[in-house]
Amino acid sequence: MTIRIVGIETSCDETAVAVVEEGRVILSNIVASQIDLHSQYGGVFPEKASRAHVETITPVITEAMAQAHVSMEDLTAVAVTRGPGLAGSLLVGMSIAKGLALGRGLPLIGINHLEGHIYSLWLDDAVDNFDFPILALIVSGGHTELVLMEDHMQYRRLGGTLDDAAGEAFDKVGRMLGLPYPGGPHLEKAAQKGNSAAFSFPRAWLDGTWDFSFSGLKTSVMRECKSYSTKPDTGIDTIPSGLPTEDLAASFQAAVVEVLVEKTVQAAQEHNAKSIIMAGGVSANQTLRTAVMKRAEDISVYIPSVELCTDNGAMIAAAGYWRYVAGQRDGMELDILPTWPLGQL
Ligand code: KG4
Ligand code: ZN
Repeated sequence: MTIRIVGIETSCDETAVAVVEEGRVILSNIVASQIDLHSQYGGVFPEKASRAHVETITPVITEAMAQAHVSMEDLTAVAVTRGPGLAGSLLVGMSIAKGLALGRGLPLIGINHLEGHIYSLWLDDAVDNFDFPILALIVSGGHTELVLMEDHMQYRRLGGTLDDAAGEAFDKVGRMLGLPYPGGPHLEKAAQKGNSAAFSFPRAWLDGTWDFSFSGLKTSVMRECKSYSTKPDTGIDTIPSGLPTEDLAASFQAAVVEVLVEKTVQAAQEHNAKSIIMAGGVSANQTLRTAVMKRAEDISVYIPSVELCTDNGAMIAAAGYWRYVAGQRDGMELDILPTWPLGQL
């Protein structure tokens, strides 16, 4: 019998639902973004995010079912993001998932959002080539994690960010440069026209660890921005005129990419990884994609298609498939875990 899973993702600012067959064939993948809602605040406003999820989740489920041309009777299980993420947002997805599971007599499967990002790779046709051990770099708005996977659903965390996540640094620097929210994709666009050698921003190598730090880099960019200001510092965000936005963007992006790529490839070599996978919103960045492919030499690199890098329901359904096959069945007492580390429990 075909295993057909509905995946529900509401951990941050996307209300996303997908139907996926056999963990890899996407029948539908609907993402309702809240970018317009949060852009006026320059970041995610948690209370507004959960309220928007409440309003959107039912129509998004209806749309995902309609586009997949399946009815509730055709589903095998309901997979839902249990954490990490914003508590109020996670609760909306969890409640609706429980309602669906209970109402339709379907198994409920709680998924770690980071595992979802990893399994977005299995939605691609290249999956048959994967060889373990895999070195995974998860780079998103909330996380920068280097993880060694010896086998399916087996994770050993090697390191991660000590302060800002890579995506968070992109978003904050984007804001300093006066770019719209979220900064990542807008900064990438600005960087395309800039000179990446215009400013030599610091790289925090944190030698001897697999950790990252982006706060020093962020402060350096801020200092550079302030040096263009002719007015006294009021503490209020004003973008100095004459700011070399494109050069600053390109130089900042180069610093982030260099550290991410170098540490990922070194970790892969040291742990004899056969493949490198990269996932999460920042892995949509073309400069990062190209750089890791080039630097990895004979280690195979896999990155999801750009649409699957940012949060979506298909990745939760894909992880749900592997968990379902492994026998995971959660009960109605399943609770959200806003700070759930990957591989624990
Ligand atoms: O995975 P994701 O959708 O949500 C989280 O789990 O956090 O990642 C969103 C993050 C944001 O910080 C966004 O600015 C960043 O991914 N991002 C990018 C790009 N596209 C999205 N960062 C750099 N370059 C991009 N092209
Ligand atoms: Zn994410």
